Amino acid sequence: MTLKNLHDVYHDQLQDLYSACKQSLDATTELGRAAADRELSEALIAGANGISEGMDHLKSICARHDIDPEGEHCKGMAGLVTEARAHAIKADFADDATRDVVIITQYQRMVHYALVLRLPCRICQPSEPGRGGRHSAKASGQHL
Ligand SMILES: [Fe+2]
Repeated sequence: MTLKNLHDVYHDQLQDLYSACKQSLDATTELGRAAADRELSEALIAGANGISEGMDHLKSICARHDIDPEGEHCKGMAGLVTEARAHAIKADFADDATRDVVIITQYQRMVHYALVLRLPCRICQPSEPGRGGRHSAKASGQHL
């Protein structure tokens, strides 16, 4: 796809971020289930709920632009999810606390990928595209 203007770039980024959220949602839930510490586990499940809410927000933004949020596959998040599963879930640990620390490091990597979702939208505005948006594309929700 040739990106012709800022709107094309914005749409491409929305789809990429939606894909990133979708992939990280399952992985965050898996990390939450794998965590031994109850507070960590609950925080990760809350984080998954925040991701889900963010996906709903991204869907509504995409709907206003008449684009399919599923139009892209984020290879960056795919790599991070693969890493998270390999290092925090499939790996062997001598004790639960060590696994929990690795779970935190892997979750932070995934969350940092999606930090751009917290930036205010300067391009998108439903009634006047290109004049500066008033909404924030906050989508990553709860953080540890
Ligand atoms: Fe991406």
